[in-house]
Amino acid sequence: MLRFRKTTFFLFVNSIFSSFLFGCSAWQSDPQTTVNPKSDMAVLIQDLYVLVFWLSVGVFIFIMGAIVYVSIRFRERPGVEAKQFHGNTKLEILWTLIPILIVLTIFLPTASAIPKIKSDAPANALQIDVVGKQWWFEFKYPELNITTANEIHIPVNRPVSFNIESSDVIHAFWIPQLGGKVDMMPGHLNKMWFTPTEARKNAYLGQCTEFCGTSHANMLFRVFVDEQEDFDKWVLSQQQNGMKAQSELAKEGEKLILNNIAFVTDNGTAIGCVTCHKIEGTNAMGMLAPDLTHIASRSTIAAGRYENTKENLIKWISNPSRMKPGVSERSGGMPIYEDYLTPEQIESIVTYLLELK
Ligand code: CUA
Repeated sequence: MLRFRKTTFFLFVNSIFSSFLFGCSAWQSDPQTTVNPKSDMAVLIQDLYVLVFWLSVGVFIFIMGAIVYVSIRFRERPGVEAKQFHGNTKLEILWTLIPILIVLTIFLPTASAIPKIKSDAPANALQIDVVGKQWWFEFKYPELNITTANEIHIPVNRPVSFNIESSDVIHAFWIPQLGGKVDMMPGHLNKMWFTPTEARKNAYLGQCTEFCGTSHANMLFRVFVDEQEDFDKWVLSQQQNGMKAQSELAKEGEKLILNNIAFVTDNGTAIGCVTCHKIEGTNAMGMLAPDLTHIASRSTIAAGRYENTKENLIKWISNPSRMKPGVSERSGGMPIYEDYLTPEQIESIVTYLLELK
C-alpha cells in the first residue's frame, strides 16, 4: 500500500513538472500556443486567464494546506479524541464572503473585457471575409479585390475585421495567438476583430475547432503578420492576373488545365480543373475550390496541411484522399486524377501551378 502511494505520488509530481516544462517550451516555440498573445484582443483574454489561474492556485494551496493541517493537528491519537463541531456563525459568514469576493474579482474584469471584444471594428480596419468549407478556408479582401485560400497576410498594428461564415456545415475559426474562437455558421454572419501587434516571418497558425467531418483535423490555415511594406508588396502581387506559363513543361500543363481536360467518370459526370478552380485572367472560373491564381505564393497546400512543394502537389493531384481523407469521397470533391492522367501529364500541371506566383 505504502509503495503504491509512493509511486502514485512520484507520478503525480512528475506529471506536474513535465507539464510545466512542456508549457515553458511551448511558450517559446509553438505557434499555436494560447499563452503568448500577439494581438490586443488576445492580450485581454490572456489577462483574464492569468487572473483566474492565480486565483485558482491560491484557492488550491489554501484548501489543500488547510486539509493537511487540520488532518494532522486534529487527528485522533493516543490521549487525543477527534471532535465534531456543529455550526459556527463566524466561519459561515467568512466562507460565504470570501467566495463572493473571488467571484467578483473574476466577474468585474470579465464584464469589462467582453464588450471590448464584442465591439464593432474601428473604421480603418482591414476587412476580410472568410468562409469555412469542408475542409478549407476561403478568404476574400473585398476592398482590395483579392481572393485566396488557407493563408492570409495582414499588416501589423492595423485592426483587421473578419466576417465569418460557412457554406456547408458548422466550422469554427481560431488563431490562438491572435483571436477567436468564433463559430462559422451556414447562413449566419459572425464577426471578430483584433489588432495584431507583432510582425514575424513564421505564420500564426489557425485551426478549425468545430468537428466538421472526416478531415476536420486537417482544416488549418496560416496568418502572416507583415510589416506594412511587405504587406503592400503582397497585395500588389496578389492583385495581378495568373502568370502565363514560362517553361515548356508548364505550357503543357497550362494547356491541359485551360483547355479543360474534361474526363467522364464512371457515373457519367465530366470533370476538369476549371470546373471548380479559378485562375484570374484565364477561362478557369470555377468557384467551388481554392483560387489557384497565386497558388505558388502560398507556403502550404491542402488547407495548411502540407508544404507547397512539387512532390506534394504531384501526390495531391494524383490522389488527394491519400493525403487528406474524405476529399475525393465527398460529392463534388477533388477527383483522383491518377485514374485519368499519366504521371507526365500530372507533372506538367504541377510545373504550371508552381509558376503561378
Ligand atoms: Cu471545419 Cu472542423
